[in-house]
Amino acid sequence: MGSFQSFQQQASKMNPRCTMGLGITLFVTAIMLSDAAPLKSQAYFNKTAYLPCPFANPQNISRSELVIFWQDQEKLVLYELYLGKEKLDSVDAKYLHRTSFDEENSALQLDNVQIKDQGSYDCFIQRKTPRGLVLLHKIDSELLVLANFSEPEILQVSNSTGNSGINLTCSSTQGYPKPMKMYFWLKTQNSTTEYDSVMQISQDNVTELYTVSISLSLPFLDGVNNATIFCVLKTQPMKILIFSQPLPIAPGGPLPVPEENRSWIVPAVIIFVFILMTGFMLTICKRKKKKPGLSYEGDENHQNGE
Ligand SMILES: *[C@@H]1O[C@H](CO)[C@@H](O)[C@H](O)[C@H]1NC(C)=O
Ligand SMILES: *[C@@H]1O[C@H](CO)[C@@H](O)[C@H](O)[C@H]1NC(C)=O
Ligand SMILES: *[C@@H]1O[C@H](CO)[C@@H](O)[C@H](O)[C@H]1NC(C)=O
Ligand SMILES: *[C@@H]1O[C@H](CO)[C@@H](O)[C@H](O)[C@H]1NC(C)=O
Ligand SMILES: *[C@@H]1O[C@H](CO)[C@@H](O)[C@H](O)[C@H]1NC(C)=O
Ligand SMILES: *[C@@H]1O[C@H](CO)[C@@H](O)[C@H](O)[C@H]1NC(C)=O
Ligand SMILES: *[C@@H]1O[C@H](CO)[C@@H](O)[C@H](O)[C@H]1NC(C)=O
Ligand SMILES: *[C@@H]1O[C@H](CO)[C@@H](O)[C@H](O)[C@H]1NC(C)=O
Repeated sequence: MGSFQSFQQQASKMNPRCTMGLGITLFVTAIMLSDAAPLKSQAYFNKTAYLPCPFANPQNISRSELVIFWQDQEKLVLYELYLGKEKLDSVDAKYLHRTSFDEENSALQLDNVQIKDQGSYDCFIQRKTPRGLVLLHKIDSELLVLANFSEPEILQVSNSTGNSGINLTCSSTQGYPKPMKMYFWLKTQNSTTEYDSVMQISQDNVTELYTVSISLSLPFLDGVNNATIFCVLKTQPMKILIFSQPLPIAPGGPLPVPEENRSWIVPAVIIFVFILMTGFMLTICKRKKKKPGLSYEGDENHQNGE
């Protein structure tokens, strides 16, 4: 009803004599017209948005009889086309010089879109009649603002001074809205492993765009080969995957071992030790048993020798 109020203010400004009766007519019309689901539109940050106001105009009413304007959630006017002419004095300073009418698409063109511009807008079409302004059409639209994150970039935090492994960070900047997730993706000849990590998220307090990063500590594994690591960002709302440039991990260099796959090492070592021990014990036993045999052989030899 707030929109109705400012609508009424406009009406009374222009035609103070018949506000009362007109007000009631408009009130009813506004209720009848405001049921439709809002139209969705989206725009990229710092680009142009189009807020649609489709109006079939079945009676072929001339522009010079129509008043068309857009309001935001706070009832601030973005643009007004009054009887075919731009009327700037009702436009809020926030929107001045950013808006124009796109005749072809029957839409409002909003330039230099900011994250703050997200939200819902109303478009009103009124007809000026001898009895005052009559609302013909009211359209609700919802604007979603997007910004593409930069290609994720992997940085090696420091070289392998310690023998523990390498530390990697990956970051992607200036996107909106918050991404779904970010992870490292390790590809070897025969396997791929995903390393999920908690995203560090920061928001620019002027543009409201997000910068995200993750880090990973990869241990070395000796004697293994060839791997490539990628950093992957999964964005919203379209769930697009953005890959970093590949970072090759050279043969002989560090090869990360996934935490969960290392469980085989301990049993393997135990089994290996067990086999060694068994082999060792058997050898000792054989030797012990062979001693009499040897002496027998010796005896034999001795006998043979005799
Ligand atoms: C907005 O776009 C203009 C060029 O169209 C560019 O110069 C400016 O840096 C951009 N602003 C931001 C905050 O990205
Ligand atoms: C609508 O009116 C204009 C003149 O105001 C006229 O040129 C046009 O042909 C009309 N269109 C229709 C579909 O009646
Ligand atoms: C953002 O990314 C999408 C999909 O990759 C692309 O179609 C679109 O042109 C990009 N927009 C801008 C402003 O870079
Ligand atoms: C790591 O070492 C390589 C060469 O061995 C060098 O090019 C690179 O700048 C080093 N990086 C850091 C962070 O020290
Ligand atoms: C990697 O980070 C860990 C702490 O997360 C640190 O103990 C280790 O020394 C770092 N390694 C390198 C090579 O910087
Ligand atoms: C990878 O797979 C190929 C055949 O698919 C096999 O010959 C090779 O030994 C495997 N390498 C490793 C490291 O498992
Ligand atoms: C942005 O936030 C930082 C830290 O909170 C603050 O120092 C800076 O003044 C803020 N900038 C603006 C333009 O508000
Ligand atoms: C290393 O892997 C890449 C692709 O994963 C492959 O093209 C290359 O032949 C491999 N090199 C060796 C020495 O296995």
